Amino acid sequence: MSRIAVVPGSFDPVTLGHLDVIERAAGIFDEVHVLVVHNPDKKAFLPVPERESLIRQAIQERGISSPVEVTNWSMGLLVDYLQQVGSNIIVKGLRSNVDLSYETPMSIVNRDLAEVETVFLLTAPEHGHVSSSLVRQVATLGGDISPYVPRSVATFLQKHR
Ligand code: PNS
Repeated sequence: MSRIAVVPGSFDPVTLGHLDVIERAAGIFDEVHVLVVHNPDKKAFLPVPERESLIRQAIQERGISSPVEVTNWSMGLLVDYLQQVGSNIIVKGLRSNVDLSYETPMSIVNRDLAEVETVFLLTAPEHGHVSSSLVRQVATLGGDISPYVPRSVATFLQKHR
């Protein structure tokens, strides 16, 4: 049976840190689903279809050849998506103990809800300071975001912001 891992997030926009986690997950599991989840607690910067398209372009640019599907979920619990595709593994990147504190309750609840395990991958040190919120702020104020995001994202945001 093939092992599907789901990498969920807002990806608003996708960063080099996210891409690193996606690539490493693709090297571990048979199939990876990158799931753009609408997070009602956060005000959206980019529409979900654009976030998905930028992730697809970044995966292609990076030359990730193992099976990676990019899709979105706004129909309820994350574990419902996992059950629908026959997965019991979530993969998340961890930059720091702040991320761990944020992720721990979600991991426990997802296990309570559906016996889904969360696998944490430590973010590569060179991306440890990178976040989508930092990218949004620098982009909005006209700064150079190219050190933090895939080339397709930098090009897109230069044109549209
Ligand atoms: O990139 P983010 O915003 O930190 O991602 C958080 C996300 C979207 C993965 C998280 O909010 C989530 O899992 N939302 C789905 C709703 C859900 O299933 N909640 C209950 C268990 S945590």
